[in-house]
Amino acid sequence: MSKKAKTTPKEELPPGLVLKDVKGIEWEIQNIIGSGGFGYVYCGTKHKCKTRTEYAIKTENMESGPLFVERMFYLKNVNEEDVKKWVTIKKLKELPLPKFHGFGSTIHNGNKYRFIVIEKFDKDLETFLQTVSDSLLLGAVINIVRQIIDALEFIHECGYVHWDIKCQNIFIGKKPKNNHVYLGDFGMVTKYKTEDVKPDKKCANNGTLNYIAIDGHLGMHTRRGDLESLMYNGLEWLKLKLPWKNLTLPKTIISKNEMKDAILTAGPKKKIYDFNNVPNCKYYKFFKP
Ligand SMILES: Nc1ncnc2c1ncn2[C@@H]1O[C@H](COP(=O)(O)OP(=O)(O)O)[C@@H](O)[C@H]1O
Ligand SMILES: [Mg+2]
Repeated sequence: MSKKAKTTPKEELPPGLVLKDVKGIEWEIQNIIGSGGFGYVYCGTKHKCKTRTEYAIKTENMESGPLFVERMFYLKNVNEEDVKKWVTIKKLKELPLPKFHGFGSTIHNGNKYRFIVIEKFDKDLETFLQTVSDSLLLGAVINIVRQIIDALEFIHECGYVHWDIKCQNIFIGKKPKNNHVYLGDFGMVTKYKTEDVKPDKKCANNGTLNYIAIDGHLGMHTRRGDLESLMYNGLEWLKLKLPWKNLTLPKTIISKNEMKDAILTAGPKKKIYDFNNVPNCKYYKFFKP
């Protein structure tokens, strides 16, 4: 589990259950399509609507916090008008983030849940990677990384870092957009500071150990940290074993710093053979002070 929050037992909501959002739109729950640390994600449709468009309905017990954070992020930042402007300015085909369709709360069996309704995708990248036995080709990884950088640029421009970059939080579009990827799960988004950025033990090591950036281990929320996490993920998608894969703290941090030093020492052109052939030319920039 990657999030620090109250752990609550998860209860499955029954298929057919109708949830009314704050605007009065009714959403009908179907099967479970995913499960995170604090609740289930369901496939759902608009209740009594003929066009059976599928949506993802993400639920969480009211006592937990990540979905509250995620809802806040969508409400403040992902509105149609601003996204349209951004897409035009940045000359993108679309913003690689899920579209937000609604939110609300419900009581079931005496338990209170909050929910959000977002665009549903084909599957997450972890599920896809499990179906391919080989590593992804470098071109495919670059294609994914580029789109996630587009998503991060938007999130960073809004004043936040994502702080949980990993394949479970990256979604693959439905045909014909099956080479599009989207960055979701904003349960860990955090406002970053640009001045007076100091290590803070209270926020240190927050996230998924393998992908936490060095700044994250120090408790600093930085934009470069998101890019560093993305880099660690990209290496795994190429089936390169992260040198700290089976290590715990503090050895993981030592190992990440060793790789950073090796990359900086080698410079932008060389591959680093000590670290499973890290394609250094691309990653040098992430670490360069
Ligand atoms: N919009 C979506 N489309 C398709 N699958 C989704 C969607 N959102 C979530 N999922 C599935 O549910 C899983 C958990 O969702 P996520 O948003 O990462 O929640 P958590 O905060 O619990 O990790 C994802 O890894 C994915 O398998
Ligand atoms: Mg997740």
